[in-house]
Amino acid sequence: MNDNQELNARRRTLLKQGAALGGVAALGVLPAFARAQSDKIRIGLMLPYTGTYAQLGVAIENGLRLAIDENGGKIGGREVEFFKVDDESDPAKATDNVNRLVTRDKVDVLVGTVHSGVALAMVRVAKETGTLLVIPNAGADAATGPLCAPNIFRTSFANSQTGYPMGKVLADRGVKTAVTLSWKYAAGEESVAGFKDGFSRGGGKVLKELWLPFPNVEFQPLLTEIASLKPDAVYTFFAGAGAVKFLKDYQAAGLKGKIPLYGSGFLTDGVLEAAGDAAEGVETTLHYADSLETPRDKTFRLAYAKRFKTQPDVYAVQGYDTGLLLVLAFSKTKGAVDKPALIKAMEGAVIDSPRGQWRMSKAHNPVQDLYLRKVVGQQNRFVNVAVKGLDYPPADRCKMASS
Ligand code: BEZ
Repeated sequence: MNDNQELNARRRTLLKQGAALGGVAALGVLPAFARAQSDKIRIGLMLPYTGTYAQLGVAIENGLRLAIDENGGKIGGREVEFFKVDDESDPAKATDNVNRLVTRDKVDVLVGTVHSGVALAMVRVAKETGTLLVIPNAGADAATGPLCAPNIFRTSFANSQTGYPMGKVLADRGVKTAVTLSWKYAAGEESVAGFKDGFSRGGGKVLKELWLPFPNVEFQPLLTEIASLKPDAVYTFFAGAGAVKFLKDYQAAGLKGKIPLYGSGFLTDGVLEAAGDAAEGVETTLHYADSLETPRDKTFRLAYAKRFKTQPDVYAVQGYDTGLLLVLAFSKTKGAVDKPALIKAMEGAVIDSPRGQWRMSKAHNPVQDLYLRKVVGQQNRFVNVAVKGLDYPPADRCKMASS
């Protein structure tokens, strides 16, 4: 029996019980399963609204709401109800937070989150309960690698997918040595691993990997070490408020202009106003840039700026694409929470995104173009396509049990 058939059977039982209960339903005391199907689609939003990634969570929610509003405020013809949790980018609270959405709020779809460690807890709960999960940022490679599952999709990137192109670009330029510096958790470790793969394949050598715990921002001792190692390049993974502090400290330490700074694009996305001239000239690789100038991107940027009175960034695009994916899938099921049909629709999705068209890989991660960008004033300006249609890390790390 699929979800719809099961629901209809439950509904018939409910109607009989309702008659026996003397109109309890008429008083609005409907069991959750009936409520869930009869009116709004319930979306559980688990994002950071406080802490170093707070701004990223807000941009994702904005993008998601914009895509749904552009579809008349509905998905699959049904209105939407959001259930929100601030996950604080805290892995220790993640399992309780996601269980609250699944068990208490009985959401139809989970959307979250930003931090890879928190997302891995969401992945575990989604696997245990079969709840549909769409990840709108967190790049934990395992989510679409060894931990992949039919009901888990990502609309953003894998961490190593954004680091690999930067390593390749530098190696192609003949850069010989680099030092890496990052927060030590899945996102940083995998971003650096991707960079090293691209860099070493082209003959580059990483002299030293430097780390600090998330979300620590005591960069000074590490910057002193970089100054004494004198690499040709520095590669970093930082994002949000931590990225702003890092860019400013790099400049204050006198390294800007002496040892070129690179990163996955999170280093400079969404932070340019706060970072000021500390970010000027920094080159990064990412699946979005501020000056793509395609008609699709222009329309999106105008609509986003008009609605939220701020410029969009990569996180807004990822939230928007999450909305596009949900709109597409639920339109195929005419609003029914028919999981096998929704999964099939998402697996075949080709998203006409502001970032450029992308499709789902076999592992449920975007196959997409990765751009080289350079900060010019308030823009992460497009330089060129660093790698076209990148499906990375290799999809064979995911052994998908059949849906
Ligand atoms: C992550 O934890 O996966 C992540 C956080 C911020 C930006 C990019 C990745």
